[in-house]
Amino acid sequence: MNGAAPPTRVAVIGANGHGRWHRRVIAPMHADGRLRLVALVDVEPVQDDPEAPLPPGVQVFTDHRAMLAATRPQVVVICTPPHTHLPIARDALTAGADLLLEKPPVLSLAEHDELTWALTTAGRVAQVGFQALGSAALTALTDALAAGRLGTVTGIATVAAWQRPDAYYARSAWAGRRTLNGRPVLDGALANPLAHAVMQCLAVAESLGGAPPWPVAVEVERYRVRPIEVEDTAVLRIRFRAGPPVLVAVTLAAEEFVAGEVVVTGTGGRAVLEYPTDRLRLPGDVVTRRVPGRQGLLENLLAHRADPLGAPLIAPLSRTAPFTALLEALRAAPEPRLLDGDLVVGVGDGGDRVRHLRGVVDVLRRSAEQGALPSELGVPWAVPAYRAELTDSRPNHHH
Ligand SMILES: NC(=O)c1ccc[n+]([C@@H]2O[C@H](COP(=O)([O-])OP(=O)(O)OC[C@H]3O[C@@H](n4cnc5c(N)ncnc54)[C@H](O)[C@@H]3O)[C@@H](O)[C@H]2O)c1
Repeated sequence: MNGAAPPTRVAVIGANGHGRWHRRVIAPMHADGRLRLVALVDVEPVQDDPEAPLPPGVQVFTDHRAMLAATRPQVVVICTPPHTHLPIARDALTAGADLLLEKPPVLSLAEHDELTWALTTAGRVAQVGFQALGSAALTALTDALAAGRLGTVTGIATVAAWQRPDAYYARSAWAGRRTLNGRPVLDGALANPLAHAVMQCLAVAESLGGAPPWPVAVEVERYRVRPIEVEDTAVLRIRFRAGPPVLVAVTLAAEEFVAGEVVVTGTGGRAVLEYPTDRLRLPGDVVTRRVPGRQGLLENLLAHRADPLGAPLIAPLSRTAPFTALLEALRAAPEPRLLDGDLVVGVGDGGDRVRHLRGVVDVLRRSAEQGALPSELGVPWAVPAYRAELTDSRPNHHH
């Protein structure tokens, strides 16, 4: 074939917030003709972005249905709040578009199944915004596991310690909420900012078992240092039908920054992947090296549309079913414990103010190292873990 086909028409719904990141990815692709940006949609006025000036001819809408009808995009990037994803996705599919749908794609397995069905009916695909899955460093890690460089893998763990200031929680009505107007939102550290840490661990587990790993039980402790409805700090242990457990230890109230490490332990050694920076250390390596190269999710989606078999999707909806199963389990957990008093230190002023949970990074590191929850480590502020078995009684199993 030749390059005579006109460039794929792309629209972004949810153009501010993280939508600006998508606009910056799109800008050079539009400029060199790999796609054509046709529309932006936001219920609020679209903010300018100096790194992604609006090309001539791009229309701006406040209603996604009006946009779909007027511009007929072939690919729609959905970057709105999580609880709006499913209805907007359905509308985009009905209008004949493929989706780049931000994470968390949906908030329950029922919604997952509904979206799977909508995709099948429309004959379209959804790529989910887990961009770290396109990382060459992750592939280098899973290749090393497949080659037996760690022996038998006995544990997968992740530690990430970030800070989110007061302004982060003030930016949107859904921020830090468990529900909004009666609809689940689940904007906790595990479901949203540190979802990539969870997903990278699931991807490692998947590489060991050859299929998306199905969680059968979770144990979780959730904490918060602010008056929010969800966790900003959590330790989650996931057990699967088969394979080693995963331990996720994360906080948004860190006193020191840990970008995000996935630690894989085996009988023959240990590997560490810093997933946000694609730095990898394998057994026998003297230094941590950067493994550059990330395939972009939008680029991959365009390649997949052109050649479905030759270019498999990096993050198809089906691959996110275990992640959504975990979210569903977290929905039933009791509210996170509020930690305050001497345990928490406020730093900074106004919207920039952050709160540090004293000693949290040490606790998270010990949890990850030992595969243990804070309560099992005897941490004084720890609450007993919430435990849940996950049953998958749906007609279409994903394992
Ligand atoms: N992949 C990543 O690394 C990453 C990073 C940040 C956020 N996200 C995801 O992106 C999504 C958006 O997050 P955010 O932090 O930018 O949220 P946000 O609330 O800051 O911004 C969302 C934008 O969508 C707009 N919006 C809301 N409802 C809309 C509707 N019905 N139609 C059109 N526009 C609408 C809002 O006005 C706002 O501009 C979430 O799913 C979030 O988890 C992903």
